[in-house]
Amino acid sequence: MIESENSLTVRALLPEEAQLASDVERLSLGHEAWTADGIRETVARNGYYYAAFLGGAFVGSAGFTAVLDEGYITNIAVHPDFRRMGAASELAKAVIEKAKELKLSFLSLEVRESNAAAISLYEKFGFSNVGRRKNFYSEPTEDAVIMTLNF
Ligand SMILES: CC(C)(COP(=O)(O)OP(=O)(O)OC[C@H]1O[C@@H](n2cnc3c(N)ncnc32)[C@H](O)[C@@H]1OP(=O)(O)O)[C@@H](O)C(=O)NCCC(=O)NCCS
Repeated sequence: MIESENSLTVRALLPEEAQLASDVERLSLGHEAWTADGIRETVARNGYYYAAFLGGAFVGSAGFTAVLDEGYITNIAVHPDFRRMGAASELAKAVIEKAKELKLSFLSLEVRESNAAAISLYEKFGFSNVGRRKNFYSEPTEDAVIMTLNF
């Protein structure tokens, strides 16, 4: 468990918290949100999800899947009322720590090219822009930037 001064806590997401995670994803990412069942099934298979709490309240989550020595971040989302308080940073730290523990070669993800907040977050943690997927996203159609952190 990682705890910081402003009562921000990050720990592994419990299966019964998958709905909370899905709800915050839907608020944050609309139709790109994962369902609670999808999150639970992923965790049961090859996924690792972390939950962030501020003053005891669930505020967001982040997850990744591990395939051989490759890690793919699924989503990271923080409730709109609790942004810019460091929750995503603590979630990113937990994800990176776990990826290192699993001895993954890299963590990678796709992000909308217009998503300056997320791109800035990932850059802060050492991810670099390694490519682009044309028209990867729909509603609205947009390119994805591929960002990767090599270990
Ligand atoms: C991206 C997101 C997860 C950041 O969550 P957060 O808890 O507010 O982030 P933090 O407070 O930990 O901020 C960490 C860094 O992210 C970046 N950041 C966060 N919000 C930002 C904003 N509105 N504009 C620019 N940079 C931003 C900054 O680099 C920030 O570091 P700084 O505070 O030193 O400037 C949040 O905005 C969110 O849920 N967005 C919608 C979902 C989403 O787009 N997820 C990514 C999908 S790939």
